[in-house]
Amino acid sequence: MILDKSYQIAKVDNRIYGSFIEHLGRAVYGGIYEPSHPEADEQGFRRDVMELVRQLQVPIVRYPGGNMVSAYNWEDGVGPRKERPRRLELAWRTIETNEMGTNEFADWAAKVNAEVMMAVNLGTRGVDAARNLIEYTNHPGGTYWSELRKQHGYKEPHNIKTWCLGNEMDGPWQVGQKTPYEYGRIAQETGKAMKLVDPTIELVACGSSNSSMPTFPEYEATTLDLAYEQIDYISLHQYYGNRSNDTANYLAKNLDMDNFIKTVISTCDYIKAKHRSKKTINLSFDEWNVWYHSNEADNLIEPWSVAPPQLEDIYNFEDALLVGSMLITFLQHADRVKMACLAQLVNVIAPIMTENNGRAWKQTIFYPYYHASVYGRGISLKPILNSPKYDSADFTDIPYVDSAAVLNEKEDEVTIFMVNKHLHDSIVLTADLRSFEGFALKEHIVLENDDLKAVNTKEREEVKPHNKGKSVLREGILEADLPKTSWNVIRLAKKKV
Ligand code: AHR
Repeated sequence: MILDKSYQIAKVDNRIYGSFIEHLGRAVYGGIYEPSHPEADEQGFRRDVMELVRQLQVPIVRYPGGNMVSAYNWEDGVGPRKERPRRLELAWRTIETNEMGTNEFADWAAKVNAEVMMAVNLGTRGVDAARNLIEYTNHPGGTYWSELRKQHGYKEPHNIKTWCLGNEMDGPWQVGQKTPYEYGRIAQETGKAMKLVDPTIELVACGSSNSSMPTFPEYEATTLDLAYEQIDYISLHQYYGNRSNDTANYLAKNLDMDNFIKTVISTCDYIKAKHRSKKTINLSFDEWNVWYHSNEADNLIEPWSVAPPQLEDIYNFEDALLVGSMLITFLQHADRVKMACLAQLVNVIAPIMTENNGRAWKQTIFYPYYHASVYGRGISLKPILNSPKYDSADFTDIPYVDSAAVLNEKEDEVTIFMVNKHLHDSIVLTADLRSFEGFALKEHIVLENDDLKAVNTKEREEVKPHNKGKSVLREGILEADLPKTSWNVIRLAKKKV
């Protein structure tokens, strides 16, 4: 590898380390909010969960859905709790009590130092509900909705800056699914009205629900064509799984993600050219993760209960490796991917698990997410890497080693993130780091495990990192041992004189 501080991709937008809380399963009820829990604070928020979220330094959290938002009435979740209606929640076929809503979520986000990324309902509703919601959350006062917020105990506006115009509106599973043209038009008109209320906001339009949708990338192209002036980002979602138990193939799936990102960038830039526009639309990868372990269990859940254990994937070690590679892919596209949300944050396909009235613990995927979020802030550099390659069922020329590097100029630190996908062999990395004069090795963190299927439980953390990685830096040349199937974080810092 050659890594030079002048090979810069872009400054990393910290919001790529965002996450997501949906009113789904036990993400809210039993996850972030459980008033009867011994660790609950005065608002019913679990302190143990907030502590783990703070460790992750999550900068932005998407809310309240997800599929759920497409039939959500935001008014149900504000005002006195005892007056809030219980509703049939159609996306996940549960009962929504509305105990938590917009104001409480804004409070929770402030407590964990995160911004809110708010989604509006473009399934069953549209321009009117969205413009009222933003008046409620962002307008200082003196109008119907802003005064109502004050009556509800929130004198100051929440000033939510980032808004999603619906969710996965191409999906037949969505309440109020839209054709590309229907969606493009409603996104355009809703975006227009919302920016009239608050011109400082940024808007994310839906793209396709994943790259295998039959209307991909036409959905993006039509939406961009219609709403180009109103929107700032286009959304991407993608989940992977190892359904055929073929790890070599599974670990290559970030190549599919890379391709997805490149296609969406091309689509944005094609419409930019078509419109003779100077404005560039960036990407918000606002749902991504591994999701498949819980599929069968979810089919057995009876409908219409409150906060059932839905989408509770228990992640294993190989999942953590793929999550690491997906994070590396975002860093490699730091010039265009400006936001990303690990979906989701607590209990529902999440890095943090809880038991009701019990403990909270870290899943395997917590660790790559944590390392990237904490050490991956600064300028994304472009490592020139010559890696051995392999082929798998779905991919060819897969580099065994994925890498990204971030220069933190403020702290005078550089961090190299690497995944070795080789199932049997360690790989020795030789890296020319001579442009980082005066830098010394700080630590080499490794996440490794002989059992690819090892999981963490509330009793035992089987998969956790150590910092005994074998690395040496001599005269600007780094030699590092990347163990078989491992996630590596190599940290260097300028020596203090
Ligand atoms: O994150 C779980 C679900 O996945 C979301 O509700 C939806 O947007 C996506 O299909």
